[in-house]
Amino acid sequence: MIKAYTQATFIFLFICFTAVGNYVFAQSDTAIDKRVATLLAKMTLDEKIGQMNQYNGDWDATGPVTKDVGNKLDEIREGRVGAVLNIMGTAHVKTFQDAAMKSRLKIPLLFGQDVIHGYRITFPIPLAEACSWDMDMIEKAERIAATEASASGINWTFAPMVDIARDPRWGRVMEGAGEDPFLGARIASARVTGFQGDSLGSTDAVMACAKHFAAYGAAIGGRDYNSVDMSNYTLWSIYLPPFKAALDAGVATFMNSFNDLNGIPATGNSYLQRDVLKGKWDFKGFVVSDWGSIGEMINHGYVKDNYEAAQVAITAGNDMDMESRSYINNLKQLMADGKVPVSMIDESVTRILRKKFELGLFDDPYKFINAQRERTSLNRPENVEFARDMARKSIVLLKNDKQVLPLSKDLKTIALIGPLVKAKKELKGFWSLDVDPKENVVSLWEGMQKQIGPLTKMLYAPGCDITDASRIGFADAIAAAKQADVVVMAMGEKPDMTGEAKSKSNIHLPGVQEELIKAVAATGKPVIVILMAGRPMIFNWTADNVPGILYAWWLGSEGGDAMADVMFGAYNPSGKLTMTFPRSEGQIPIYYNHYNTGRPALNDNDLFYKSAYIDLPNSPRYPFGYGLSYTTFQYSDLESDKLTSTIKDNETISFSFLVENTGKYAGEETVQLYIRALVSQPLRPVKELRDFRKVRLLPGEKRRIVFTINRALLAGYNNNLDYVAHPGDYQLMFGSSSADIRLQKTIQLVN
Ligand code: NOJ
Repeated sequence: MIKAYTQATFIFLFICFTAVGNYVFAQSDTAIDKRVATLLAKMTLDEKIGQMNQYNGDWDATGPVTKDVGNKLDEIREGRVGAVLNIMGTAHVKTFQDAAMKSRLKIPLLFGQDVIHGYRITFPIPLAEACSWDMDMIEKAERIAATEASASGINWTFAPMVDIARDPRWGRVMEGAGEDPFLGARIASARVTGFQGDSLGSTDAVMACAKHFAAYGAAIGGRDYNSVDMSNYTLWSIYLPPFKAALDAGVATFMNSFNDLNGIPATGNSYLQRDVLKGKWDFKGFVVSDWGSIGEMINHGYVKDNYEAAQVAITAGNDMDMESRSYINNLKQLMADGKVPVSMIDESVTRILRKKFELGLFDDPYKFINAQRERTSLNRPENVEFARDMARKSIVLLKNDKQVLPLSKDLKTIALIGPLVKAKKELKGFWSLDVDPKENVVSLWEGMQKQIGPLTKMLYAPGCDITDASRIGFADAIAAAKQADVVVMAMGEKPDMTGEAKSKSNIHLPGVQEELIKAVAATGKPVIVILMAGRPMIFNWTADNVPGILYAWWLGSEGGDAMADVMFGAYNPSGKLTMTFPRSEGQIPIYYNHYNTGRPALNDNDLFYKSAYIDLPNSPRYPFGYGLSYTTFQYSDLESDKLTSTIKDNETISFSFLVENTGKYAGEETVQLYIRALVSQPLRPVKELRDFRKVRLLPGEKRRIVFTINRALLAGYNNNLDYVAHPGDYQLMFGSSSADIRLQKTIQLVN
């Protein structure tokens, strides 16, 4: 978190930080504000507008590239660029920073990059990491990513993506934390803290960026970039909490979004950016547009041309223009025409420069450009080991009938079947950076090879392709299965079936893969299916018929070792889903925290006058919060610290209960607390996650878990969008998933 220091602490910190050497000194806000003001006073209008302009670099692009433009390095030397993106590696970054140092005022550039799940070491995709429910781990993963990225010249990541996602057709679900605002907020905070470290001035800290502001995840039909239409009540209750949490954690920047929200493009939305973010929330950092999103307001039909687009965007509070060139080409004229006051430009430039000062770039523009540090910071063995731990904590065990898992190391023959058995680069998933897959990614095959017993033989047959309809490989796969004691099938999507612009209408396990599973299962051999994907998929036959199912998402570079750890029981799976898995696309959007309706479907078979389908149950295939373990946990002995179950004023009431490991393996349970406001205006959902605890227990061990309830924990938005706890009855539900409530109690909140 960025801290404001008093003069005394300032001197103290100066001594400490210069002694450590790794830090430049953290300056007080006032000192920085003075330096910003002094610099601003020297800047021409062109130089100011230049600071608000961001270009893509000259290698990769993560959006539609603007063609036939002038030489970017020349523009940097002329002071016409404040930030660049997609430029990595100290040598390459240096070329650009050198150009900035030739500009009249030598204002250093920001180097932005989508460091979404690791930089050189690839961590599991964010949705997978979220399933760990482990805030320390998630924070540490970002710390490592920041350490590597900053050593390669990057000082700004376009992460975390904190969009709530209730629609698995949307390709970008892989980038977020899932469907829940409370968990999403906790994860947003952990990620920001991880990226930014103790202080933005640290040499290994990168600026984080909370994106996409706002409601991008609610695109109608799950189609990327599509319109969003929602009530302010839903916006505030469901979609905004992770953004607010990122802000409270000190996030340096926000990115707005491509979508229109209730008829106004988010990029030109004053309510979101001026009223909420910079007004009510008092955000001090700056807002960057998404790639080209200022210019795209023309396609939206919201403005006529880039001139109007620039006016609308800056007026709405968008400080920096990523790649649309609307600001650089129009702001000067807009000012001359009296349409944009200079104070507005000054405000944006002040916000941008403040971050450059906080990063320490004016003290040393080359602080992130150190080839020696780059060599020693990447792929550190302890970080690779951590990535393996993060990966195995992200795996969710969906089914384990008759304890088919873990596998014994005494098996004679294991058949590995499926198109993803030997996959390497695929395991990195979408939004991973360019790392040589041969060197850095461990496949499932390799991971299992390392862990099998000396007498075990592994057979391999791909069986089929991910999307191709050919069944030609089925015969070999069946033959391999017949020779084996156990079959492990690695199936799933292609990594580029999720990510930006990767929405799908059909989210079933693609191609003929489920047919292959049926054919192999028909051999009568025990089958374990490992599913890899960036979204919840649909695989009903497998779910009903195969005894063992693991959801492995895209686990990153150490995925193969992590999956083998789980297969052979070196790690007991503990992941819990953070997105609901539907039975059919027809159920989407599907999420646990829905309202009850006037005609709730209490029983799936009782369809008359119920809010239900006649051809499908309402229940999902796998609910939010669900995930099994090799062991079992029992909850018992609920008690409270008060004789009454009433909370008044600032009182609290604590509930505690025993969680016991009743199985044979040591394991970790994520104990979840849901609440329900039984009578409320406006309505509240049937369940709302409000707290959770992770508890690791040895076989037979039990521990008392305590949850403390206060007014804030019960609160929600009222019709005026004030966050308040209404007096009334609240049901507290303690469970192992949103659909597996083990203990409950009703309490009363009184005024
Ligand atoms: C577009 C994406 O929506 C955004 O998330 C990303 O940060 C930018 N492109 C830059 O790559």
